[in-house]
Amino acid sequence: MLNQHKPFLKTLSGKKQDKPPFWFMRQAGRYLPEYRALRAEKGGFLAMAFDPKAACEITMQPIRRFEMDAAIIFSDILTIPMALGQHLEFVAGEGPKLGELNISKLKYDDDILQPVYEALSKTSAQLKAENYTNTALIGFSGAPWTVATYMIEGGSSKDFMKTKLFAYQQPDLFDELIEILTNSTAQYLIKQVEAGAETLQIFDSWAGALDAESFEKYSIEPIKKIISQVREKYPDIPIIGFPKGAGTGLIKFAKQTGITAIGLDSQTHPQWAAQNLQSLMPVQGNLDPMMLMAGGEKMQKAAALIMENFASKPYIFNLGHGIHKDTPIAHVEKLVETLRG
Ligand code: CP3
Repeated sequence: MLNQHKPFLKTLSGKKQDKPPFWFMRQAGRYLPEYRALRAEKGGFLAMAFDPKAACEITMQPIRRFEMDAAIIFSDILTIPMALGQHLEFVAGEGPKLGELNISKLKYDDDILQPVYEALSKTSAQLKAENYTNTALIGFSGAPWTVATYMIEGGSSKDFMKTKLFAYQQPDLFDELIEILTNSTAQYLIKQVEAGAETLQIFDSWAGALDAESFEKYSIEPIKKIISQVREKYPDIPIIGFPKGAGTGLIKFAKQTGITAIGLDSQTHPQWAAQNLQSLMPVQGNLDPMMLMAGGEKMQKAAALIMENFASKPYIFNLGHGIHKDTPIAHVEKLVETLRG
């Protein structure tokens, strides 16, 4: 396979590296002054995400500072509701706000996502141009359940009450929404690979809100379908699943979805994960982002302990969730130093 020299891709193919390859969720973003500067110039998050040149530049920013083993394309999981025709805006300080949802009117328009594909191909070329030949390019999407929560709640939520009541009280209509999301997401990910993504991550950030039965129905099943559609086209594409909050459900998720590697949140005990998950596939994770924000010796010890737990099998270092915007850059530098040994 081409690019097999990249430590990140090697790890995903099951070959353990002496030093774990690393990247950080939300590695591009507001904790970087160069990001804040471009954001002020462009006027907002969506304006940047849909400007291929800006999106490429922002994807490169953390790589230039820290030389992570992977660059994740600067975009968002909420591009899919947009492509389905649901209005999306980001209100400063409040997060995403989505327009009214009318499931019977949803229609996937792939043209809307063209700037994401263009950003990927630009970034793929830019990584080469700047000689980051060891850095892999990650494409991504949200999982149907997580994206459905935003579409039904109209934004972020703490208890997902509307979404759960919808799923429990109108299961047929909810199934319809999940199916629409499953098929459009599969198409979206296939196009991302075509545009230059070397691996994919599927974020099921709110999987932890589901009870055991619903977790199988709304997290595992749709992701399994997405992966089988993507693999029909690209049989060898490595796919990382990140079912945040899944707890012991991680085992079933790892065994049944068809993922190549599993992303772990910070609540998952590394020792448990080494025994129960790393025995099945490469794992990725899972330093608490707040530990990174706190910094100091405690952070370095926490990172070292995670590395020690996962050292004997293929492993990618990451956080358990995205970098917080108030994280000091010096702490990220220190963490990277620790990772490089
Ligand atoms: O990781 C990366 O560096 C790549 C880019 C990326 C973003 N969002 C950029 C972003 C990725 C992979 C995402 C995924 C995403 N988006 C998820 C799944 C991962 C997770 O965090 O659980 C979710 C749930 C979203 C939805 C979303 N996007 C919310 C709730 C918000 C507002 C909250 C916030 O942090 O302000 C966003 C906006 C967003 N997406 C920002 C970034 C950098 C902040 C934009 C800004 O204000 O500049």
